[in-house]
Amino acid sequence: MKEFKVRLARVEDLAAVIALERGVAEAPHWPVEEYGAMVPDDREGWVRRCLFVAEGGGGLVGFAVGKTIAMVAEAELESVIVAAAARRAGVGRALCEAVVAWCREAGATTVELEVREGNSGARALYRGLGFVEVGIRPRYYREPVEDAILMRAGTASF
Ligand SMILES: CC(C)(COP(=O)(O)OP(=O)(O)OC[C@H]1O[C@@H](n2cnc3c(N)ncnc32)[C@H](O)[C@@H]1OP(=O)(O)O)[C@@H](O)C(=O)NCCC(=O)NCCS
Repeated sequence: MKEFKVRLARVEDLAAVIALERGVAEAPHWPVEEYGAMVPDDREGWVRRCLFVAEGGGGLVGFAVGKTIAMVAEAELESVIVAAAARRAGVGRALCEAVVAWCREAGATTVELEVREGNSGARALYRGLGFVEVGIRPRYYREPVEDAILMRAGTASF
């Protein structure tokens, strides 16, 4: 896939986002309503989440989710998923950059994330973006049980 575009999700993207999420074992799996609540509207809540999608080759090839809390400097990169056929083309990186820039614009100075210790592809993606490993949450994940690596990046350079 040569060309793709990253943009904020719209309501009409949600079915494709959920279909992609359900098909990727490593993805955090959330209820449909949770995705619905991420599509931008004019609410100014304490907790704000963004949902970015990547379009390419006529369809949705990836998405990423970020979360900020008002008055809190640390934001969170909650999820980034790219369709298997569209990987290693820069989509994951572009989605993460969009989420971190959104968090910076919302006032966050750092972004944190957790990743399965064994998810070497995602860890390499995050390292390449400037995230550094700052801790371990032992046995954080279930099915299978696995440690989480905590990573953090400053938002200023995004
Ligand atoms: C992790 C994931 C999002 C990466 O998406 P992607 O679009 O393939 O990533 P990119 O093409 O932007 O990769 C950018 C860089 O990250 C690193 N990288 C990404 N995937 C990698 C892999 N499987 N192995 C090693 N390095 C990898 C590489 O340095 C890559 O640059 P390069 O291709 O020039 O070498 C994708 O593999 C995926 O959806 N995995 C399943 C879901 C998941 O584990 N998400 C993370 C937890 S929510």
